[in-house]
Parts: sequence; structure tokens; C-alpha cells
Amino acid sequence: MPRLRQTDTPYFDALRHYVDSGTQSFHTPGHKQGVGMHKRLRDFIGDNVLSIDLTQIRGLDDLNQPEGPILEAMRLAAQAYGADDSYFLVNGSTAGNQAMLMTALRPGDKVLLPRNSHKSATSALIMSATRPVYMAPEVDHDLHIDHCVTPQTVEASLAEHPDAVAVFITSPTYYGSTADLAAIERIVHARDKILLIDEAWGPHLHFHPELPPSATSIGADACVNSTHKLLSGMSQASMLHAIGDRVDRGRLRSTLRIFQSTSPQLVLLASLDVCRMQMATEGKTLLTRALALARDARRRLNALPGIYCMGPDQIGRPGIAGYDETRLVITVKDLGYTGYEAERILRMRYNVQVELADLFNVVALLTIGDTEASVAKLVDAVGELAREDRPIDIYAPTGVLDRRLKRGTYRIPPIPELVVTPREAFLSDYVEVPFKKSAGRVCVEVVTPYPPGIPILCPGERITQETIEYLRLELKAGVHIQGPVDERLGTIRVLP
Ligand SMILES: Cc1ncc(COP(=O)(O)O)c(C=O)c1O
Repeated sequence: MPRLRQTDTPYFDALRHYVDSGTQSFHTPGHKQGVGMHKRLRDFIGDNVLSIDLTQIRGLDDLNQPEGPILEAMRLAAQAYGADDSYFLVNGSTAGNQAMLMTALRPGDKVLLPRNSHKSATSALIMSATRPVYMAPEVDHDLHIDHCVTPQTVEASLAEHPDAVAVFITSPTYYGSTADLAAIERIVHARDKILLIDEAWGPHLHFHPELPPSATSIGADACVNSTHKLLSGMSQASMLHAIGDRVDRGRLRSTLRIFQSTSPQLVLLASLDVCRMQMATEGKTLLTRALALARDARRRLNALPGIYCMGPDQIGRPGIAGYDETRLVITVKDLGYTGYEAERILRMRYNVQVELADLFNVVALLTIGDTEASVAKLVDAVGELAREDRPIDIYAPTGVLDRRLKRGTYRIPPIPELVVTPREAFLSDYVEVPFKKSAGRVCVEVVTPYPPGIPILCPGERITQETIEYLRLELKAGVHIQGPVDERLGTIRVLP
């Protein structure tokens, strides 16, 4: 193969080459490059995208066994991210987390992971038949925000569980704080354990010196990036990077085959290829602009009465070794709104949609796709929200909320006792009991208020009265609970 440069886009070029060749297609997808698609959708999305919605025929390589342009594109990605090997994912970082954990662990192995791990990690525990040891992340109780785990927590957990095989870390969090990855790397590798990083929220970190260090730069054994979350990859397009030899590549490739379709969406792969080229060639410039916009927005938001927008001022607090300044966590607690109400008002009245709402905050993402005009809309809308003097119950889907709930501090219950492994509980027979009377029983479901997607109960854990009260409060505040069959938690499934 001729040596490729970061300005090249081998996979996108291969797709275009097929289109230009005018080859008559007798393969999937059935819409045949748009011809068979109804006008209603075809006219809207356009023929170009449909012309490269192809399948893995000659010249277009095979994601599950890449030898041609997909392999070339993945090698360029590895080079751009400073990894030894990179893998393109078409099922998001969800598939990446599942593949990393399934590759590193054997049934019965212990893995250390933060309690605020994404549910894809929980599902990996179920599938891999492993035993989780949860590490408590640092929590800001006033803002009701979880941050990262500290190196001290990792060290103490490893001392308590020297038989753990791997350490899984989430950094950045949904709220933009990053862990002290360099210190964690030293601790984990000094004991020759495997370090896996869920860097779903950090696909951009590697490309700007004023952003916190990336997982590849500190020498993690493997990490995942949701390229689609904060860069220009299309939804579901993510990457997995691997460094060194602690993660068995053959096994990783086999595991990825379990989690990825045999008919990947090739447009997504093209978007990964072009996104990597974009970041390698102009990433620093684009991110410099995004950072400037974010810094200006943060300054203006913090000047509004009743609004707080956390930022680098928080660095140094436990669990915040660094901060991604492109994240705008807007705390509305002092306005007397919940984040859910603020989200609804911002959307319904000012036509601004944020990424996430929780009890006290809304989170807006600023990316390389923002402009001064888009940021002005957000800041102006929050400014209007801060001036709102109309009664809030007309916006709140669940009616007026308890003032205590909206202004008070809020404690996430301690991590419950693990009685049986997540897999044993998840696959076991169950009985359904009233949730409010379930204290003492062993849960077989995942119970995750979403967003941000942090499980409060996992399969195999003993339900406590504190957990019940906490979840009932979340429900009262209008939080959507994901995981249990009865999402309103009238009942819960437990071991018989
Ligand atoms: C921390 C974290 N990890 C992993 C994921 C899953 O990523 P994806 O949506 O790319 O599958 C998410 C999704 O929100 C996440 O927040």
C-alpha cells in the first residue's frame, strides 16, 4: 500500500469511486442507491447520501475483517490519536465498552469500575459473567453532579481487591470533568492490571493542548471515543483505540464481531474517515474557536442572576483533575427551577434544545459546529429564563414540585451490597413486588434515572430503604427511569 497522509480519506474515496464507476448493483440495500426509495424521504435526504449507502462488496472492504480501505482509514485514525490500533464502531461507544470489557475479562474475573459508569458497562458485566467492584465517584451534593473517581480511590480499591484484573474509568463525565488519568495509569500499570477508559465524551481531547490529556496520550490500554457526540461523526459512529499488548487484538476483533452488524452503515464509516482527516488537519484551529466561544458563553452565563456555569474554577476539587471547557453545565437551582423545567422552558419558549437535564442543571454542548449566533441564542434564552416570573407549573409535565426538592441538597444513596453477580441476577427467575416494600430484596433489573444514565440499582444488588426513597424522589421530580419493566416503579423484579 502506498503510504497515506492525514489529508487522505481512503474509505470515503472508495465509496465515491464505486459511485463514479456506474456499476449496476444487484446487492443490498434494496433501495438501490435511492432508486427504490419513496420520494418523500429520498427528496429530503438527497441522492448523494443514498448513493453511498452501500454494502461491503468488492472494493468496499469488510468492517469485521478489514484488509483494504477500512484498514487504511483505521490506521490513519490510530496515527492521528497516537494509538497502536484503532477500530471503527457503528454501534457507538456502547459496542466499544462492551467489546473492551468482554475482551479483557474472563467469567468470574473482578473488574473495578466507577458507579457512574454508563449502562453499556453494566450490560458488559452481564454478558461477561464478571464481578464488579464499584468505586465511588466524587459527588458534588449541592449541584447533584457526579465527577470522576480519584487516583486515591483507585489505589485503595486495588489494595482491597488485588485480584482485580482490570480497571475501567469514565473520563470525561457527562458533565465535563476529567480524571487524573496519568496518576491512575501509574497506579494500575504498576500492578500490571489492564486500564480501560470510557472516553465517549472526549473524542476531541487529543487535538487541543488546552483540553485535558486524552486517554491515548497517557497510555491507556484501550479507550473508546464517541466521535459522533462532539465531533463530526454521524450518530452511532465511534472509535476504539488500543495501545500496547495487554489487550489481545485477536480476541478484541472477535468480540467486536459479536457487537457489530454484518451490514454496517457505510455512510457512518465514511463520516469517521473524514472526521479523522478534519481533526488531524484542522482540529486545533476548530477547537480553538470552539473553546473561545465556550469561554465567552460561560463568562456571560455566570453574569446572569441566579445562574452558575461551572468551569475551570472547579479544577482541583476531588474528582476534577481537569475540565473540558466546551461543556456548559448551567445550574438553575437558585432560580427555583429544576433542570427538567428549565429544559422544557428553553425548548418550548425559546426554541433552544440542550443535551441533558437533571434535577438542578441543564447541560449544553458547544462543539466545532457552533457559531457566535448559535451561542448567542443559548445565552439569550438562559437570560430570559433567569428573568421568568410566570408560574412554573404550566410548563412542568408533572405539576408543581416540592420546593424542598428544588432547593435542597440531594444525596445519592451509597452503593448497595452485591449479593450475586449481575449475570446471575439478570438471567434468573424473578418475582414482582411493590417497589416501596422491596427493601431487603435482591434486584434483578437495572434502575437508571436517565439522563445522565447512572444506575442506582444494578442486577444482583440488595435494595435499601434509602434507595427506595431516593428513586421515589427522582420520579416525583419527573425523571425518566430506564431499565425496569415498570418504569414508574410501582413494582420491581427481585430474586424469589
Ligand atoms: C459515559 C458514556 N459512555 C458510553 C456511552 C455510550 O456511547 P454511544 O452513545 O456512542 O453508544 C455514553 C452515552 O451517552 C456515555 O455517556
